[in-house]
Amino acid sequence: MIHFVIVAILVAISTFVLGSYFSSGVLLPEQASVQANVIDNLFAVHGWLIAFFFSLIVVFMLYSIVVFRRRKGELGDGYYTTGNMKLEIVWTVIPLIIVLWLSVVGAQTLADVERRDPTAIEINVYASQWNWNFEYENGAFANQLVLPKDKQVLLRLHSDDVIHSFWVPEFRVKQDILPGGEEYVRELRITPSELGDYKIRCAEICGTLHYDMLADVRVVSVAEFDAWLDEQVNTVCELEAAECGRILVEELGCIACHSLDGSVIVGPSWLDIAGTFETLDDGVSVFVDANYLTKSILDPNAQIVAGFTEGLMPEIYPDLLTSDEISDIVAFILSLE
Ligand code: CUA
Repeated sequence: MIHFVIVAILVAISTFVLGSYFSSGVLLPEQASVQANVIDNLFAVHGWLIAFFFSLIVVFMLYSIVVFRRRKGELGDGYYTTGNMKLEIVWTVIPLIIVLWLSVVGAQTLADVERRDPTAIEINVYASQWNWNFEYENGAFANQLVLPKDKQVLLRLHSDDVIHSFWVPEFRVKQDILPGGEEYVRELRITPSELGDYKIRCAEICGTLHYDMLADVRVVSVAEFDAWLDEQVNTVCELEAAECGRILVEELGCIACHSLDGSVIVGPSWLDIAGTFETLDDGVSVFVDANYLTKSILDPNAQIVAGFTEGLMPEIYPDLLTSDEISDIVAFILSLE
């Protein structure tokens, strides 16, 4: 009897220590959304259960090894037992009840995470190799995700090429983004609960620059969000065309694939490209002028330069950009001569 009491006390202590550790949140990144709170609560429930069963098994095992070890001079075998129906039933029924209970708790959590707020702000997210672009309700495009605090946003996730995955660890929720058009657009709801700067990390291997497919997330006050949104729409670039083009290619992330210093990344470098002849993969030679550059932005796979891979450049730019913006970008590339 005394052994049972000692084991029970040790199991209780071990459960308390491990359970407190798992559920304290030290293992997780900062919690920055309403959905994260719900998910972390579920994580804590699992943490306590895992702590208890781990303690039950390990404490019992270690206690037996130490206390009931063979001592010097003991020669006989230990007490021999075969089967224990009562124990079998207990350790089948209890886990069954726990698993059923966990499925109910899990379903409740999922319902909470996916709870719809009819006043949610809608933002279209365009993922492409290897960029993120965001379209806001007023039609503004940006390369950063700005969200108002304490307001639900409905993200509609589009991909133009391969499977990507939207993931901000601090928000906890994650969703694959599928190519294939409107039918495959996936939705994700987030209610940011903390002001701050975060990062979207693509969580699905999507090619050479997958590791670098990041975008900034800023959670701001509702007033700041409205002001920022107005500013986005009113921004018509009034600088020189080439300067506007430079701002655009930085915002769009073009220079992740097209270097400005002559080095070859994924696509041809833009340095000194204007005014030269490029050899295409079918052997034809083309002169690089405004015409060719414009065509390459509008229909990137029509003329592939020899040595580069077809299908890597997204075909989203005709939709994403106005014709003024495209000619600004062309002007910028021409200026790199
Ligand atoms: Cu996109 Cu990985």
